[in-house]
Amino acid sequence: MRSRSRHCWVRSAGTLVFALGSSACVDTSPSTLHPEGPGADRIAGLWWFMFWVSAIVVAVVTALILMGVLPGRRRRTTRDKGTPRWAGRLVVLGGVVVPVAVLAVLWVFTLSDMSALSQPRRSRAMKVQVVGHQWWWEVRYPQQGIVTANDIHIPVGRPVEVELTTDDVIHSFWVPQLTGKTDLISGRTNRMWIQADRPGVYRGQCAEYCGLQHANMIFYVVADPPETFRLWLSREGQPAPTPTGSAATRGREVFLSSACVGCHTIRGTEAQGKVGPDLTHVGGRISIGAGTLSNTPSNLAIWISDSQSVKPGNLMPPIPLRPDELETVIAFLEGLK
Ligand code: CUA
Repeated sequence: MRSRSRHCWVRSAGTLVFALGSSACVDTSPSTLHPEGPGADRIAGLWWFMFWVSAIVVAVVTALILMGVLPGRRRRTTRDKGTPRWAGRLVVLGGVVVPVAVLAVLWVFTLSDMSALSQPRRSRAMKVQVVGHQWWWEVRYPQQGIVTANDIHIPVGRPVEVELTTDDVIHSFWVPQLTGKTDLISGRTNRMWIQADRPGVYRGQCAEYCGLQHANMIFYVVADPPETFRLWLSREGQPAPTPTGSAATRGREVFLSSACVGCHTIRGTEAQGKVGPDLTHVGGRISIGAGTLSNTPSNLAIWISDSQSVKPGNLMPPIPLRPDELETVIAFLEGLK
């Protein structure tokens, strides 16, 4: 409770200064200074606390320097005989005692927040497994048997445990508005937790350089109200819906007879590839290529025809389809909701 009130006053004062000094105060900005969950709230509180302590230290040191160099002050000191006794005490106090006290206070608050961030407040948290790939995120809900990619749906107001592993190099999982970074490291499973206090879409980003398309390794945490989340879980757990309409039905045939099936899984079909993202409900996702393009039919056409032109180095080769075939495949994939 004490810690919470500390966070509140330092943040209120800080937010006022930030708002006065910046016109870019937008809620959609994925900034750690716009927290939307208890983890990020603690981090922002600590950040503002450190900011104000540092600001006071800078102000006091600047004032002392000015007092020493101002002409009037210098004239008085040059008339002095020897060094006054208080000068030695001031050096010990300002150079040793105060810095040790300030750093000790910051250290204790930092340790307290690190400890709080490492464990969810409640046990029995829902579990999500995230596997890092160059350059996309595989997302699994083991309790529900769901596999998806790049969008992580969570229920609002509930802590969710996230298990992090990697399929290749080191990545780092970071949703600035929800909590701090945690690395995905080969051969081990790291655990952290996220919680969003309000429904919304929170942008996440790989925060460890992992190759050519590190910057295009984006994901979205979608915090749903409980009923919406329950519906999403039940829909996402189903196999791919049967295509409706002749274009989508033809698109399914084209997809299943093309190279696509070698790399992608669509549950409920013969497509069982494991190289790229599971596409069972790809039509309902926010983006294509892990945040590279928004999920629209025209972007999907660009991605299928030649994803190398928009995300060079990714594993997907150009898929040579006739324009009419491409159109039907897009109708099929966009219908997978
Ligand atoms: Cu993955 Cu940077």
